[in-house]
Amino acid sequence: MSQRTATATEEEAADHRYDFLVVSNRLPVDRVGEGEDSGWRRSPGGLVTALAPVMEHSDGAWVGWHGAPDEELTPFEHEGISVLPVPLSAQELENYYEGFSNATLWPLYHDVIAPPEFHRAWWDSYRRVNQRFADATSTHANEGATVWVQDYQLQLVPAMLRRKRPDLKIGFFNHIPFPPQEIFAQLPWRRQVLEGLLGADLLGFQRPSDASNFIHAARRLAGAGGKGTHLTVTDATHDGGDPPRTREVRAEAFPISIDTQRISELAERPDIMERARQIRRDLGDPTTIMLGVDRLDYTKGIRHRLKAFEELLSDGRVKVGEVTLIQVASPSRERVEQYRILREEIEGTVGRINGTFDTMQHTAVRYLHHSYPVEEMVALYLAADVMLVTALRDGMNLVAKEYVAARRDGTGALILSEFAGAADQLKQALLINPHDIAGLKDAITTAISLPRGIAARRMKAMRRQVVVHNVEEWSSAFLARLEEVRP
Ligand code: G6P
Repeated sequence: MSQRTATATEEEAADHRYDFLVVSNRLPVDRVGEGEDSGWRRSPGGLVTALAPVMEHSDGAWVGWHGAPDEELTPFEHEGISVLPVPLSAQELENYYEGFSNATLWPLYHDVIAPPEFHRAWWDSYRRVNQRFADATSTHANEGATVWVQDYQLQLVPAMLRRKRPDLKIGFFNHIPFPPQEIFAQLPWRRQVLEGLLGADLLGFQRPSDASNFIHAARRLAGAGGKGTHLTVTDATHDGGDPPRTREVRAEAFPISIDTQRISELAERPDIMERARQIRRDLGDPTTIMLGVDRLDYTKGIRHRLKAFEELLSDGRVKVGEVTLIQVASPSRERVEQYRILREEIEGTVGRINGTFDTMQHTAVRYLHHSYPVEEMVALYLAADVMLVTALRDGMNLVAKEYVAARRDGTGALILSEFAGAADQLKQALLINPHDIAGLKDAITTAISLPRGIAARRMKAMRRQVVVHNVEEWSSAFLARLEEVRP
């Protein structure tokens, strides 16, 4: 691995210890530019927005991987956030990230929509990388510090950290679903993963059902005791001489949200409103624009959405020129086989739909395999009369919440899968089962012709929800609860 030379300030930063550490696979910064001119930009997304103020007020740091393999970076500061980079080799990228995280855990935790693969070499790499994250965190944590570990890539970190540093307060939040015990039980390393998670004082999940799935698995497969959301575990950290110590772990739901104010403010910026009008004009001013925005992932139900739309076009229930579907599919995990297969399928389907139904003036599906900055996303939300969220399984789905936050005037209809966590909070959406293509088609035609008054009542109720329950409230609620369970 290449090693950049450390300057005096970098060395100081390397020795510094913090009171609050967030640990996630990806750092909240992206590299911009090349070579000598390269720098960092804060990543879009709610988590960093929510935690940046906490970081500034509490001498905090972020531990994570910076996105490029085979490169070691020394700690640095970016816009008030102390960044502690953890390196990954090209081999670890393949085994820990693409392999165990995204071809074993990801499909296993999302209802086995794609078949999970189990490989011992991937598991070994996952363990080693988790240990590296735990060591980096332990080195930089002050006595009694609070550590908040994020997501499925780092499930072993809580116990690894507790073993070294029983003084720390450890929280963990799982951004994706936690599967039913019967599915989770397939994992050859199920006990080790549960024990890893049980190293935390507080485990947060998106939905109450995720928390209860975890609790059942912990009791049946890892011997945890306790009642309700209280789990009791016998600490594996005690050294030989001491009698085993029993410790309490809580597992509860904390549904994540978005930076509602930011989205809402962007939605009233004149240039963004004008951009939304321009998008409509560019598409030939159809009566209805429908929008899907997803990472190109098999959990998102993009195929089901396209199938429903294609059938509506061929039934003559919707017409090209009157209705256009914009599908933004941002590139994701492109070296993982299931993602490659999916891309081919989606692009083949879009080609077939457009080849069959397009006219010289109008297109049926405007497909965009890109990521866009938040300003363009908000313009798309404003341009869209109907938002389609048809996930087959999704921890939360923040796109649904962002659409609602952008619709200040109460217009627009949200079609939302009941299998997305957001369905628990956005109850006034048109809730659908994406496997039920007939039901999905009916929901689309209902959304297209939803009377303004009804649409406005529903949208206003949903906006109230995301205005009150924003990401700042989410992170404060989690951290306050962690303080309560581990004073
Ligand atoms: C999901 C996961 C995150 C992950 C993101 C993007 O939202 O919960 O942990 O960072 O997808 O995926 P990537 O593999 O590019 O980090």
